Amino acid sequence: MNITEFIKKSPKAELHLHIEGTLEPEQMFLFANRNKIKIPFKNIEDVKKAYNFSDLDSFLKIYYEGAKVLINEKDFFDLTWAYAKKCKEDNIVHTEIFFDPQTHTERGISFDVVINGIHKAMQKAEKEFGLSFKIIMCFLRHLDEDSGFKVLNKAILHKDKIYGVGLDSSELGHPPSKFEKLFKKAIENNFITVAHAGEEGPPEYIWEALNLLNVKRIDHGVQCLKDEKLIEKLSKNKIPLTVCPLSNIKLRVFDNLKDHSLKKMLDKKLIAMVNSDDPAYFGGYLNQNLIETQEALNLTIDDIKTLLINSFKSSFLNEEKKKEWINKI
Ligand code: HPA
Ligand code: ZN
Repeated sequence: MNITEFIKKSPKAELHLHIEGTLEPEQMFLFANRNKIKIPFKNIEDVKKAYNFSDLDSFLKIYYEGAKVLINEKDFFDLTWAYAKKCKEDNIVHTEIFFDPQTHTERGISFDVVINGIHKAMQKAEKEFGLSFKIIMCFLRHLDEDSGFKVLNKAILHKDKIYGVGLDSSELGHPPSKFEKLFKKAIENNFITVAHAGEEGPPEYIWEALNLLNVKRIDHGVQCLKDEKLIEKLSKNKIPLTVCPLSNIKLRVFDNLKDHSLKKMLDKKLIAMVNSDDPAYFGGYLNQNLIETQEALNLTIDDIKTLLINSFKSSFLNEEKKKEWINKI
């Protein structure tokens, strides 16, 4: 079996995926038409042309614009169901997905509409495809902590559906320390915590996420290589880093996939794995990320195995389930 076939056929876990980031241009038009929402694009070609980003903020502007077509529970259901079908195609057997309630509640959509649509679609996928899942609610870090408390209070009412909380959106100027009290309350309410840190931001933000937010995983974290002490801490404490290679290229964190630090991270015994972040915007789902990264960095089949094992190990599955999947790789 060649390495591409191996990637496609292996069971996989995805740990860094924003459900709003799976909104394909075709769906954007479909939802815009049925909800009578105006979007600033004439056709699909027009949308694809706009997906040319210079950094994280230039992406977020378009991403929040796109999310405005999501209005009803059915929209959130259809969006999530379409992603579940992609999981089946890519042989993803377990997925931990992010959603950003404030992107929707800030424009008058109710929290319940968002979470119920997403959760019902994931439950259907669990029943029909055997896809296991966890849902993680992200706070938007460009907003203030009070706005975060409002959605955390809603999440507490949906604890049966939401496994953990995370932190995303515009990183620079919005350090994890801004949300220390909010994360403390989330932990008191039995949510596990993760945070985007060290995507564009400095190693200091990763330290803060670990020390102040008590995160179990760092999302992205590629900037950790600038700080030897931090590398030591991450590897000693086995803190996973959910790396997203195609995202990093689209948002110009690295100039070229050949310059990506993933292989260096593995060489330093960091627990890194490959994820797709916002696949509709960044050029591909999980298999595409793995295939392109393997080619660009000349990864061996053993490197790929390590990446796939790391993703199951770093998941929030129970130990028995982790072992079961790892044995099937
Ligand atoms: N970084 C920060 N916020 C995000 C991202 C990301 O990669 N994707 C969606 N929201
Ligand atoms: Zn992300």
